Amino acid sequence: MPEYAFFEGKFVPLQEAKLGVMTHALHYGTACFEGIRGNWNAEEEQLYLFRLEDHFRRLHDSCRVLTIKLAHSVEELCRITVNLVEMCGFREDVYVRPLAYKSTQAVGVRLHDLDDDFLAFVTPFGNYLDVEAGIKCCISSWRRIDDNVIPARAKVAGLYVNSALAKTEAHENGFDEAIMLTQEGHVSEGSGENVFIVQDGRLVTPPASDNILLGITRDTVITLARNELGVETVERSIDRTELYIADECFLTGTAAHLSPVISVDRRPIGEGGVGRLTSALQRLYFEVIKGKSGKYLDWCTAARKRPVTA
Ligand SMILES: Cc1ncc(COP(=O)(O)O)c(C=O)c1O
Repeated sequence: MPEYAFFEGKFVPLQEAKLGVMTHALHYGTACFEGIRGNWNAEEEQLYLFRLEDHFRRLHDSCRVLTIKLAHSVEELCRITVNLVEMCGFREDVYVRPLAYKSTQAVGVRLHDLDDDFLAFVTPFGNYLDVEAGIKCCISSWRRIDDNVIPARAKVAGLYVNSALAKTEAHENGFDEAIMLTQEGHVSEGSGENVFIVQDGRLVTPPASDNILLGITRDTVITLARNELGVETVERSIDRTELYIADECFLTGTAAHLSPVISVDRRPIGEGGVGRLTSALQRLYFEVIKGKSGKYLDWCTAARKRPVTA
């Protein structure tokens, strides 16, 4: 399958998209990125990009935080992405990685007086976590970075060192994923996912002020729970031990989809399997992201040229 990237203002074969070794973003993490899924719908032979505009709106917001001048509007970024995905022609689930970065070839920590650029590539991408059997989580010894250190609401490349430390610690200790606490000790988020618990028939999830990325999957799940199941979500700080005694728990993220959590710190959640509300939400979510729900088709952008029929 030929693979392409959008690089320095044009579409090029992926192998030709190369950055210089002095690129500012490589040394100082001065870049913002997004992760967007393209979900393969086999019946329609169509690849649906999920909530494309929302991802690029968030990229624009992240760039504002990092003073990166993004030369393309949200509409242009959507068009570039659809073209790129169509060019690659994958017939499976994919992940699109757009990156806006400080591109100057220079040494010196700062955000000012630097050039900015944008790139994007597409890669095949299956499940990131076990969405069927569920995952085992631990509370990380690494605390979530505070808004006044590096703002978690912006998807800043350098911030992901915090996530990487937590993820690898969890992996080395035999867990699938880490859940980080804020400096104050409240539940914040996973290394690349938002956290939900089910308590007395309602969903509870940490607020933006607990240093989370405001996830697009988080918003999707809150919307589906309310509209389709009549289940409300409370956004409030969550204590660590509330996880241990939750009826159900799951993580949400573009890569992670809706991943059931079956244990935290080796304590089984609920019955230790996938919870009833979690299963119901997961079913709805997978219908929606594959463009199988007419009601939510506005969230899906078709990214495969349909064969011309006579
Ligand atoms: C730290 C972090 N939190 C939460 C999320 C979930 O966000 P979304 O659902 O928009 O992918 C991600 C993934 O991008 C993430 O990296």
